[in-house]
Amino acid sequence: LRLACVVGARPNFMKMAPLLRAFEAYPQVETVLIHTGQHYDRNLSDVFFEELGIKHPDVSLNVGSGSHGVQTAQIIEKIEQVLQDASAEGTPFDRLIVVGDVNSTMAATLASVKLGIPVAHVEAGLRSFDRTMPEEINRIVTDALSDMLLVSEPSGIENLKQEGKPEEQLYLVGNVMIDTLMHLLPKARQSDVLSRYELQPSQYGLVTLHRPANVDDPKILESLLDVLIDISKRLKLIFPIHPRTEKRLTDFGLLDKVKSADAIVLAPPLGYLDFLALSSQAKVIVTDSGGLQEESTVLGVPCLTLRPNTERPCTTEGGTSTLIGNDAALLNQCLEDVLEGRYKNGTAPKVWDGKAAERIASVIVERC
Ligand code: UD1
Repeated sequence: LRLACVVGARPNFMKMAPLLRAFEAYPQVETVLIHTGQHYDRNLSDVFFEELGIKHPDVSLNVGSGSHGVQTAQIIEKIEQVLQDASAEGTPFDRLIVVGDVNSTMAATLASVKLGIPVAHVEAGLRSFDRTMPEEINRIVTDALSDMLLVSEPSGIENLKQEGKPEEQLYLVGNVMIDTLMHLLPKARQSDVLSRYELQPSQYGLVTLHRPANVDDPKILESLLDVLIDISKRLKLIFPIHPRTEKRLTDFGLLDKVKSADAIVLAPPLGYLDFLALSSQAKVIVTDSGGLQEESTVLGVPCLTLRPNTERPCTTEGGTSTLIGNDAALLNQCLEDVLEGRYKNGTAPKVWDGKAAERIASVIVERC
């Protein structure tokens, strides 16, 4: 059984790592790891391969950054070639596996199904119902074209049924990102990142921001910064800056503003272990990331989500996340609740037990 496993951007690496490990239990399976190169910076890519123990990519497409059209088109063109070459050499792929919702996920899926290679989508069915999000488009297209839909939370099953997907293609398997978290939490506890940034456990907030809707408009970005500066007067903040956000802050002349806030510690994008050390010991997380809503729920850390909606409703309904949108008053209220110990507790779905990848491997090997 020959499987093409595709990764491109930072969150993909955390999701693919446990899958590659799980397939090692099956001698009849050969995995070929294809890295599109959507993320190429050392600290967005290589560091994750090292820390997560992922094998060196078997194929690197080196696509890099570009507009959505250019990036997507280049991935389609290059991956199509790889898949065709494999067939021509007499070692065709039986299936392609994609994870998450980034441009690489959708592009690889399109190329693959058009060549008749079926696709399994890991983290299928999530819907924000907000088509202004590029990831929502990627999710819809990827799911429409995949015939094996491996779902992380119950809402995903409902969404896919609503879209008319046949039940025999749907599998509630759990969350591979949480597999990685559980696997590496003991190692993350050995990180010295807190002392490097002069932080005390439970006495700081962790901030991340990178969604186009939050960082690409100068007015919105500045208003979010004002809120962060406000929070930092009460709680020290650490803010590892995504390259997109750093670029926007520079372009909009806002970098000095955030740099001059004494209680906001700026950091470059961090590796997986340092980041997990920070998220697991934070008093609160303020973010617009999807994965971090899930991780904070598992870690039991309050998460104030700077988005109007979420494709991961179990993190708000049962979990520790609250949707803040860009409502500064609500953010302050929730922060107050956190600091006063009144903020809600949360629990993660039972199926987030660290064994999602094993279930996925078993389904794929059985049903391929
Ligand atoms: C992508 C995903 C997003 C995911 C995020 C995690 C899509 C549509 N978006 O967003 O869902 O949450 O990754 O980080 O796929 N850049 C670098 N170095 C790199 C890569 C990018 O500096 O290695 C800069 C470039 O200026 C680039 C910008 O970041 O233009 C955006 O990169 P891109 O891959 O287009 O999207 P992300 O914002 O990273």
